[in-house]
Amino acid sequence: MPLVTTKKMFEQAYEGGYAVGAFNVNNMEIIQGIVQAGQKLNAPLVLQVSKGARAYANHTYLVKLVEAAVETTGLPIALHLDHGPDFETCKSCIDGGFTSVMIDGSHHSFEENIKVTKQVVEYAHAHGVTVEGELGQLAGVEDDVNVSEEDAAYTKPEEVEEFVARTGVDSLAIAIGTSHGAFKFKPGTEPQLRFDILEEVAQRLPGFPIVLHGASSVPQEFVRQINSLGGALEDAIGIPEDMLRQAARSAVCKINIDSDLRLAMTAALRVHLSENPGHFDPRQYLSPARAAIEAMVAHKIKTVLGCANKA
Ligand code: G3H
Ligand code: 13P
Ligand code: ZN
Repeated sequence: MPLVTTKKMFEQAYEGGYAVGAFNVNNMEIIQGIVQAGQKLNAPLVLQVSKGARAYANHTYLVKLVEAAVETTGLPIALHLDHGPDFETCKSCIDGGFTSVMIDGSHHSFEENIKVTKQVVEYAHAHGVTVEGELGQLAGVEDDVNVSEEDAAYTKPEEVEEFVARTGVDSLAIAIGTSHGAFKFKPGTEPQLRFDILEEVAQRLPGFPIVLHGASSVPQEFVRQINSLGGALEDAIGIPEDMLRQAARSAVCKINIDSDLRLAMTAALRVHLSENPGHFDPRQYLSPARAAIEAMVAHKIKTVLGCANKA
């Protein structure tokens, strides 16, 4: 099976009351860890590449690695651009073999967001590629964009029908209180998501796939492990997994997870190197890091996404 778009994947997720995991990829070990979990649990996958990932690993390397993942697993896998900043980046990914792109115009005015999103949709659809747009703004850091808590803005449900109708997007990312990165809520605070906004959006867009970004849960055992071995992570809590499960049962068809993979990988590396100070062969310390990614993705598929056996 070649790379797939998100179209059928999301139709099935919407009908089935589950979500597909969209995991960020930056190198071979991350890709292998994710797809090994997907293969064992027979789950569809979105492998997503940010602007920063393309700058780090090179577009062609990432495409070829993801093609290898498809070839070796036979899983339905979409290769997706995460947070496409402009038309040119989206076009370059469409021309370069991606099957799905996000155009993130969420920091623009409503009219500007519509304009650039529509431009991407027209080009993408002419090339058989699906498009994710975004309305509302998440707090946190992604690439070189840093949105403060004060500048974050919930999605306005009254805008979604016009945005979808005028742009022709295939899915819509909304802001309901999740945020990017490993520092989401201060310890001791009560994490809250605006499920009322999600429900109203779902009612206004029946059958339409919604996307949730910033959905890492920030497992405390990894934060503690990293910090006890010389790390300096700020104390923070993530999105409770029961809330994500609730979202996955609703119109949310794609849930984006990156920070939890980073935490799992970093904790495994630190533990391995502290227990084996003499190791200097990358295969020795990258093997447990890859296994940690696999375990994290398997956990998400079973506990949060509900997409096991849906490939
Ligand atoms: O939302 C952003 C993702 O976590 C990707 O992060 O831009 O540092 O690659 P990155
Ligand atoms: P996290 O930082 O919560 O993992 O979110 C990742 C994301 O939304 C990628 O687009
Ligand atoms: Zn995101």
